[in-house]
Amino acid sequence: MKPDVLVLHPALPPQMAMLEQAYTLHRHDLADAAGQAAMLGQVGSLCLAAILTGSTVLDRQMLAQLPALQVVACGSAGYESVDVAALRERGITLTNASAALADDVADTALLLMLAARRGLIGGHAHVASGEWGRTGAFPLQSAVRGKRLGIVGMGTIGQAIIPRAQAVGLEIAYFSRTARPEVKLPFQRDLQALAHWADILIVIVAGGAGTRNLIDDPILRALGPQGTLVNISRGSVVQEPALIAALQDGGLGSAGLDVFWNEPDPDPVLVALPNVTLYPHHASGTVETRAAMAQTVVDNLAAHFAGRPVPNPVT
Ligand code: DGY
Repeated sequence: MKPDVLVLHPALPPQMAMLEQAYTLHRHDLADAAGQAAMLGQVGSLCLAAILTGSTVLDRQMLAQLPALQVVACGSAGYESVDVAALRERGITLTNASAALADDVADTALLLMLAARRGLIGGHAHVASGEWGRTGAFPLQSAVRGKRLGIVGMGTIGQAIIPRAQAVGLEIAYFSRTARPEVKLPFQRDLQALAHWADILIVIVAGGAGTRNLIDDPILRALGPQGTLVNISRGSVVQEPALIAALQDGGLGSAGLDVFWNEPDPDPVLVALPNVTLYPHHASGTVETRAAMAQTVVDNLAAHFAGRPVPNPVT
């Protein structure tokens, strides 16, 4: 008998084919609202596993219709729409894909940081528009080597940023909910103090209610007129109107952003600012990494149903 799996959001086609071989899949993702409700009523009590992505809602109401659920495999790093507390209460395992995407997301943090600090977007326009030939050299920029980096969030991806930041000569300290003994860098429990100290903040905490507007006006202004904010976590973590105001009035120097409040149509005022470098929530967007992320779904379910420890546990 193949275990029943509820597909709330699919993995990539090759991994869906692997799942199809091993499980009876119930394609909730393909049904309309009425079909989804009917499906939960008919097979909800049979489903031992669910697969989804971070923006898929899995709340208490749905969980009540999944009384046999044992494991939830999330194909993204973020799981902000999953009620983790409700899963914990029932001892349901949650897995995610942080390990698969850590290198690409850490690369993107550096990409955005260097582009913002060295004026890549402005420099590109200076060349492409012919401005270089007409008016001369591009203004001098600020060096990265010797500056101070605060990493906000020290999970798998935060830790992947460390060697990259060290390679370009940054001094590093970090903020997280609790100190990480395995990280041999200064821990700062006061985010405001970290922002005062730092020239650059890279934000890589989990999204969701607990981190909403964590980066607010006082933090942005503590980072200061020469400071750079890089957000590769979730748009919700940064208070966007405060970010726009600080970038407009010079309270903050620049920002490199992969994530926004209103995706995929971010605030037109924000995107028109000259001191932003923007990326379309694509930090993990490589062929290799997306395949590896999808494979975590297959591998975590396989481990669970073989009675082995899951490789990527969140809970
Ligand atoms: C993730 O995996 O959470 C990335 O942000 C892509 O959504």
